[in-house]
Amino acid sequence: MYLLHRLSRYRKNKAMRDLFSEAGIAVEKLVQPYFVVETAADAGDIDSMPGIARISIDELVKEVGQHIRVGIRNVLLFGIPSAKTDDGSQALKADGVVQRAIYALRKEFGADIIISADVCVCSYLNSGHCGIIRRRAEGLNKDNIVLDNEATLSLLGKIAGSYARAGADIVAPSAMADGQVKAIRTALDLAKFESTLIMSYSSKFASALYGPFRDAMESAPGFGDRSSYQLDFRGGRQALRESLLDEEEGADVLMVKPALFYLDILSRLRQLSALPIAVYNVSGEYSMIKYAAEKGAVDEKKVVMEMLTSYFRAGADIVITYYANEVAQWLK
Ligand code: PBG
Ligand code: ZN
Repeated sequence: MYLLHRLSRYRKNKAMRDLFSEAGIAVEKLVQPYFVVETAADAGDIDSMPGIARISIDELVKEVGQHIRVGIRNVLLFGIPSAKTDDGSQALKADGVVQRAIYALRKEFGADIIISADVCVCSYLNSGHCGIIRRRAEGLNKDNIVLDNEATLSLLGKIAGSYARAGADIVAPSAMADGQVKAIRTALDLAKFESTLIMSYSSKFASALYGPFRDAMESAPGFGDRSSYQLDFRGGRQALRESLLDEEEGADVLMVKPALFYLDILSRLRQLSALPIAVYNVSGEYSMIKYAAEKGAVDEKKVVMEMLTSYFRAGADIVITYYANEVAQWLK
C-alpha cells in the first residue's frame, strides 16, 4: 500500500535508531550524592537504600577516586553530624563534617572534580526541620510548622560561606526558605566568593519519595511535616514561580525535585528559563527500582537507562542520581 509516512523507517535497525535518537545519558552530566559521617564508627549501610552507605571522609576520598576513573566527576555532599543542636551551629564549624570532606576531596583531586554541597539544616537540628522554627501551631493545625524565615536565611548564608571557604565549587540550598538564593549570593559575594555557583533546589515538592533519604540522614522531622515550606504537589504554576524567582535572585542552576513524578514541571520550566536545570532523582525513586530489581520484577539496567534518559529528554542538563557511579560502570 502507498503510505507517505512510515515512521518505522527511522527504527529499522540499531544504527538507524542511534542516528535518530534525541537524548542520551551523558556521564559527565551525572552527579553522585554522598552521605558523609564524622567517624568510621558512624559509617554503615542504609537499610532503605541498598547499595548506598553512610561513609567516612577517608572512604569518601577512596570511593570518589575510583569513580573518577569511570567518568563520574561530580559529587553532592550531605553531612551527618555526630551531634544535633537547636541552633544548627554544627553546620557552620570550619571543621564540620562537610567542610572537612570538601577540603579532603579538593586536596586529593584538585580541579578534577566539581564539589557541590547541600546547604540545609535538617540533619543538624534536633527538630529535623529545614529551618529554625518560630512557632508550632496547636490544635487542629498541630502539623503546621512555621519557620523563622529570616533567622533561617542568616544561618544558610553562613553555612554556604563556610562551604565555599572549604573549597566547594557549588552550594546547593535545599531548605525552600523564601529568599534563600539572594541571602546566599549576598553572603558569598561579601566574603569574596563571587565565583562559587548556587544550584538552588528551586522547585522542590513536599514528597513522600524522600523517605529513604531521611532514614539515611536521620533527618525526619520529629513533629509536623514540611508542607508549609516545600511545594504542594497539586500544583505546577507555583513551582515555576519559585524557580523563576530563584533565577531573579541570582541562581546559577535551577532544580526540579523529585524527578520522576515531576517531568511536566521540568519540561515547562525548560520553556521558561535559559538557565541550566538539574533534576534530582531522589532516594524513593532509587529504592523503588532497587527493590523491584531484587525481586526480579524489572531489569535494573534497562529501567535505570530508560528513567535517566527521560530526564534528559524532558530538558534536564544535569541529573543528580544515586545511580551515577553504577551507571558509569555499566556504560564502560
Ligand atoms: C533536605 C533534603 C531532602 C533531600 C535533599 N535535601 C529531603 C527532605 O526534604 O527531607 C531529598 C533527597 C532524596 O530523597 O534523595 N533538605
Ligand atoms: Zn532540609
